[in-house]
Amino acid sequence: MKSLKRRDFLRATALASAGAVVSKSFAKFPIEKLESSEIKPIVIASANGLKAVEKAMEMIKSGSDALDAVIAGVNINEDDPEDMTVGYGGLPNEEGVVELDAAVMHGPSYRAGAVASLRNIKNPSKVARLVMERTDHVLIVGEGALKFAKAHGFKEENLLTDKAREAWLKWKENLSKEDDWLPPHNIEDDDIGEIIKSYYRHYGTIHCSALDLSGNLSVVTTTSGLQFKIPGRVGDSPIIGAGLYVDNEVGAAGSTGRGEANLLNCSSVMIVEWMRQGKSPEEACLLACKRVNERCREKRLKDEKGRFKHNVKFYAINKKGEYGCASMWSGGSYGKIQFALHDGKEARILEGVSLFKA
Ligand code: GLY
Repeated sequence: MKSLKRRDFLRATALASAGAVVSKSFAKFPIEKLESSEIKPIVIASANGLKAVEKAMEMIKSGSDALDAVIAGVNINEDDPEDMTVGYGGLPNEEGVVELDAAVMHGPSYRAGAVASLRNIKNPSKVARLVMERTDHVLIVGEGALKFAKAHGFKEENLLTDKAREAWLKWKENLSKEDDWLPPHNIEDDDIGEIIKSYYRHYGTIHCSALDLSGNLSVVTTTSGLQFKIPGRVGDSPIIGAGLYVDNEVGAAGSTGRGEANLLNCSSVMIVEWMRQGKSPEEACLLACKRVNERCREKRLKDEKGRFKHNVKFYAINKKGEYGCASMWSGGSYGKIQFALHDGKEARILEGVSLFKA
């Protein structure tokens, strides 16, 4: 048996007493691979994940498995009423009900779990993990997902904050001049409830991937999905291979943005396969954008030059600790292409690359 280096000894000691951060089911994975001293831990997330990468890296440095770390990271966003794209305070469906999607994938055990259209439970990522660990299934949706969560002790709560309800009401009242919902107005006003012309549909989400000190990779993606969606609409986030994917020998990837485009292209599994073929994480993310653009046949989704006009964004890390982020668009109303990264030294917001510039 090889002798443990000092750092590994400290980690092994930490692991032995770290029941609070290392789940029972994962404890064996870090301990099996303690010999390597070449591993550069890394955590990447969407731009709303600065606190998430900080939390995840803090846990990784104290010996946690990557999946424990990334879930704890995104739980910060799920609990935050100010993040209107995830969990509590997320924007609701067209009927004013918050419906959440989430998935997790654990590299070393090559297992995954997911929930979709889950109502009244603010941490869908935790429920997704239980689907992985405590069922023979990968994806549970709707009423079944809620019952499953309650069976495991999750408490139902109203996830619709006043801020999200008011945003939904404004949308509903301005959908049509012909319906009965009226925005605030004066009796002299005409054209009440005219459609907001420059209306932008939000597909906000948080994705987080990590490489831990044992060289193991894991991923999570969690979201309230497309704002004001048709009830029951499921995006890419809870779909393994689309909204997230990991191969522990190669790398991990995930996405935010227009889920429908990503569902049609299974981009996360493609990114991992391109990394397996030797592409860098950034090159692989950019190839995913190209594929979405080239595959699209629907004119309504393209601009006057025939380019896919919605944004999708991809994040990837590989086994060597390299990282990358690419999106379809940057500039103009699309803004900067940013992502959150912790490389073991500090958490920061970095800029990625884009296929098109507005
Ligand atoms: N990417 C998140 C969604 O489309 O639901």
